[in-house]
Amino acid sequence: MINCPALIDRIMAVMEVAFDPAYGEAWNQRQVADALAMPNTHALVVDAAGAPIPDGARSAVQPAGFVLTRHVLDEEELLLIAVAPGARQRGIGVALMEQMITASRARGIVQIFLEMRRGNPAIHLYNKFGFEPIGERKHYYRMANGERIDAITFGRSI
Ligand SMILES: CC(C)(COP(=O)(O)OP(=O)(O)OC[C@H]1O[C@@H](n2cnc3c(N)ncnc32)[C@H](O)[C@@H]1OP(=O)(O)O)[C@@H](O)C(=O)NCCC(=O)NCCS
Repeated sequence: MINCPALIDRIMAVMEVAFDPAYGEAWNQRQVADALAMPNTHALVVDAAGAPIPDGARSAVQPAGFVLTRHVLDEEELLLIAVAPGARQRGIGVALMEQMITASRARGIVQIFLEMRRGNPAIHLYNKFGFEPIGERKHYYRMANGERIDAITFGRSI
């Protein structure tokens, strides 16, 4: 359980610019706060160099990306990962995944899962980390225009 307004602000600063509104994937502040209030939720925010910004203190460092996960027993779900558009394709997504996997291993996690809408370029990042498709839910996501998109579940052992 994490109760840190500065952390929520940093996550929201990236959230608000990172997700295409057409897909309705961004979470609002309330959803982030509620998730962080749940036990076993983990958040990592990094700067433009991919270095972690510590949760607690106020900081002038601009957040460039974040990842949110939650674990149950020895399995962890990647809930959201995002990098601000101006900071993309410079390895920050890789830095987030590496640090997330290291932290997961340290808490005894053996499997990581994530779910992605079909067609999300994030698949390049997930493939790079050895995630394999293990299932799909047809027409699971609804876009802002009402169209439906499949969800694909990926997993890998760590
Ligand atoms: C997915 C996302 C986090 C990737 O962040 P990033 O910082 O650009 O990722 P990286 O620079 O570390 O790139 C990782 C790899 O993926 C590739 N990649 C990233 N975005 C890509 C794109 N749009 N098209 C093709 N390849 C892409 C990179 O080339 C790199 O591969 P390489 O090392 O072989 O060249 C970012 O695009 C994003 O925030 N997207 C919007 C939010 C989202 O959809 N999140 C996923 C669902 S929660």
